[in-house]
Amino acid sequence: MPVTAVVGAQWGDEGKGRIVDYLGQRADLVIRYQGGDNAGHTVVNEYGKFALHLVPCGIFNPTTRCLIGAGAVVNFDTLLTELETLQKACVDVHNLWIDRRAHVILPFHRLLDGAEEAARKDGWEVGTTKRGIGPVYADKASRQGIRVGDILDPVRLRTRLEMLVPLKNRTLVYYGIPEVTVDALMALCADWREALGERIVDGLPMVREAVRSGQRVLLEGQLGVMRDLDWGIYPYTTSSSPTAGGACIGAGIPPRAIDEVLGIVKAYSTSVGGGPFPTELTDADGEKLRRIGEEYGATTGRPRRCGWFDGVAIGYACWLNGFTGVAVTKLDVLDHFDTLKLCVAYRVGDEILDYVPDTAIQEQVEPIYETWPGWKTDTSQARTWDDLPELARAYVNRIGELAGVPIRFVSVGPERDQIIVL
Ligand code: GDP
Ligand code: IMO
Ligand code: MG
Repeated sequence: MPVTAVVGAQWGDEGKGRIVDYLGQRADLVIRYQGGDNAGHTVVNEYGKFALHLVPCGIFNPTTRCLIGAGAVVNFDTLLTELETLQKACVDVHNLWIDRRAHVILPFHRLLDGAEEAARKDGWEVGTTKRGIGPVYADKASRQGIRVGDILDPVRLRTRLEMLVPLKNRTLVYYGIPEVTVDALMALCADWREALGERIVDGLPMVREAVRSGQRVLLEGQLGVMRDLDWGIYPYTTSSSPTAGGACIGAGIPPRAIDEVLGIVKAYSTSVGGGPFPTELTDADGEKLRRIGEEYGATTGRPRRCGWFDGVAIGYACWLNGFTGVAVTKLDVLDHFDTLKLCVAYRVGDEILDYVPDTAIQEQVEPIYETWPGWKTDTSQARTWDDLPELARAYVNRIGELAGVPIRFVSVGPERDQIIVL
């Protein structure tokens, strides 16, 4: 491994959490490199079942340091609740650190997220998680943001807030949201400093030392390539970069220091929120995928849109990230289908595309499918490649071919041991 980026290859919810939990058992450092509590990373292990939003999924190994990286955005209230939940389940959370360069989500960011979403015209809704992600990254990009390190220094914090608050209040008034005061935000940040101040560090020395000394470092991405701010289905994207490039920036690691990029690929497709989704199924098969795969958002509980596997999206993700291998998850969900479809290209008019075009074109594409026979056998007990039925192996191999890289793991259930290592 030494440095491995774990990247969602589709529209999010591919099973990054379960893979990071698995690999995290042998990691020295796990860094969440972007996003905030819009994430819902599910982990099922001996401690119970958790939907982690901010805490890296390496937390279950007490000797693994877990860092919320500089590229992430932090809602301290969510973080406190999450730490409490973990502690109640007897998880040792002493090794959780927060990079002082990460940005702070303030309560008005969430309110603005909701208001901005409500202001979008019919059909243009992003379907955000309403966690304030867009507004906080916008403040970061316009250099108005409050960083985690700022809350350690009340004088600096007050100065920063005195510049930010009047600007935000103008927007809040525009949306009919009550104005905020510097004093109220100062008090909130003081509570956070009190509760979590000792965990705030400059992550760079920790990360540099780990990489230089060849420790095993995992970079945990949030969401997936199709919702990357630049290469996803803009404007139906998140506001950061879930890709391997985003991992370098968000974790503070040079591109050449990443040894492996593991793409997490669900054996079919799901998407939460707006935007094009070419292989979407609105029929009984889509409903069946949702039911068997329990495809409901880990953060918002929304039903996920479900569809057949999209090989074009995977090839695109592979190019953008330079995957060195992929983990195929939720293969067991397909155990119950007579036939399966795999999208291998897009058609737009007379043109055949083997890559994901820009959103306006993607909205018009028609998937070209291969039809595959289902294996109709329970795979959830399989622990070796040979345990899988031949038709399931053929289907997984076809996914590997479309990705153009080796399959490293096949996951056949949510539990930690329900995995096949290749
Ligand atoms: P993430 O956001 O990428 O970490 O993925 P989510 O946690 O949002 O969604 C994945 C869901 O599938 C969770 O409920 C997992 O417990 C579950 N899951 C993960 N891998 C498997 C698998 O191989 N089979 C089944 N049946 N469920 C899985
Ligand atoms: P994990 O890490 C699935 C989607 C939202 C919306 C768009 C932008 O669990 O895979 P945002 O709140 O980021 O401004 O929303 O992205 N979205 C996710 N979809 N899984 C997630 O996280 C998501 N985080 C955001 O539905 O369409
Ligand atoms: Mg999720």
